[in-house]
Amino acid sequence: MKNFVYQAGTKILFGKNQVNNLVDEVLTYSNRVLITYGKNSVIKSGLLEKVTSLFKEMGVFYKELNGIQPNPRISSVRDGIRLCRENDLGFILALGGGSVIDASKAMAAGVNYDGDAWDFCLRKAVVKNPLPIGCALTLAATGSEMNGNAVISNDETQEKLAMGSDLLRPKVSMLDPTYTFSVNKWQTAAGTVDIMSHIFEQYFTPDKGTDIQDNIAESIVRTCIKYGPIAIREPENYEARANLMWASSLALNGLTSTGKMMGDWATHGIEHEVSAIYDLTHGAGLAIIFPYWMEYVLTENTAYKFARLGRNVFNILEEDELSAAKQTIMAIRSFFNSLDMPSKLSEVDIPDEYFKIMGDKACKFGPIGYFKRLNNEAVTQILMMAK
Ligand code: NZQ
Ligand code: ZN
Repeated sequence: MKNFVYQAGTKILFGKNQVNNLVDEVLTYSNRVLITYGKNSVIKSGLLEKVTSLFKEMGVFYKELNGIQPNPRISSVRDGIRLCRENDLGFILALGGGSVIDASKAMAAGVNYDGDAWDFCLRKAVVKNPLPIGCALTLAATGSEMNGNAVISNDETQEKLAMGSDLLRPKVSMLDPTYTFSVNKWQTAAGTVDIMSHIFEQYFTPDKGTDIQDNIAESIVRTCIKYGPIAIREPENYEARANLMWASSLALNGLTSTGKMMGDWATHGIEHEVSAIYDLTHGAGLAIIFPYWMEYVLTENTAYKFARLGRNVFNILEEDELSAAKQTIMAIRSFFNSLDMPSKLSEVDIPDEYFKIMGDKACKFGPIGYFKRLNNEAVTQILMMAK
């Protein structure tokens, strides 16, 4: 286990009836707030109404920015920055899933930056002095509620790129599982896959001696396997929604990658290239690509980690490492299928037309992956396998 510094930094307000507490927390930062949200889920659930009526009662000045799309666009980010500057706003409160939170982080980074916010994604600028942000999470998936990352899409260049800074971790996140009751089957399944994928990205690394982190990781995967199907069958099952919601945060708040050099993150890099062009739901893309990545990187040297996951999570009894590893990959793929997630790119109407370009773009800043380094040709080959 390597030396590490760990500071999560986000105050979590977990459970029912926390909106008052959320608003109180926001007011400790500013009474001039930008509220951001997507299309209509927070209108239907009444969350927006609750927050705005409390703001009115407390004399908070606020502006709203709506219409943030899944796979959030840099154009929304620019709109948000403009609103913050024009109205001298001091806090951004995101109501929604990962896309709304990510866009809000990019806005927060851009308000006090002279150039264009896309520079952060191009690695031309480093985040300094961002506005503080907070959120009310409505979809268990990305972990954006407790980390400093944002993934932003640019329609003009057909790019989807990540940016990040510890300074962008939300100051406060409200996690009320009842607001996730309305998440449909597809998004619940995609969210469950995303949570599991975040664990996989940090679990499949060559680091040794990180048993505590790996045990926590396995327990989060077991939680997804137990509660994902229940949440799909019974959308208002509080226990299932609560466990998935907390799993979402714990899977990507840095906890399970402590003591490791870094995560692998190749599969996310590949998926982002697919959704940059085809606007695919992130978790659905991961459900397709992850098992193929696993098959591609499986060797005599990497088999031990797949075998460990299979034995500890999927009750695989096979003693031979390579055979156990193959059984683990099959078990993961069949779990994703049981959630009605696709397992081939052709199932979501994605042809092989841009696979080579996707391979080149995924390696734009150099080879990707850590469990096994992948160059652009390797990425294209994985996409071909997933065809
Ligand atoms: O726009 P609304 O009406 O809110 O509808 C949304 C959207 O259509 C809907 N939804 C959200 N909460 C709901 C709900 N519908 C009913 N009831 C609710 N309570 O769900 C749809 C998808 O929302 P979105 O925010 O896009 O989903 P998710 O949370 O999965 O976020 C995906 C984005 O996050 C990025 C992905 O690449 C993708 O762009 N990621 C961000 C990460 C991070 N910041 O750490 C890491 C991830 O790996 C990921 O890359
Ligand atoms: Zn993800």
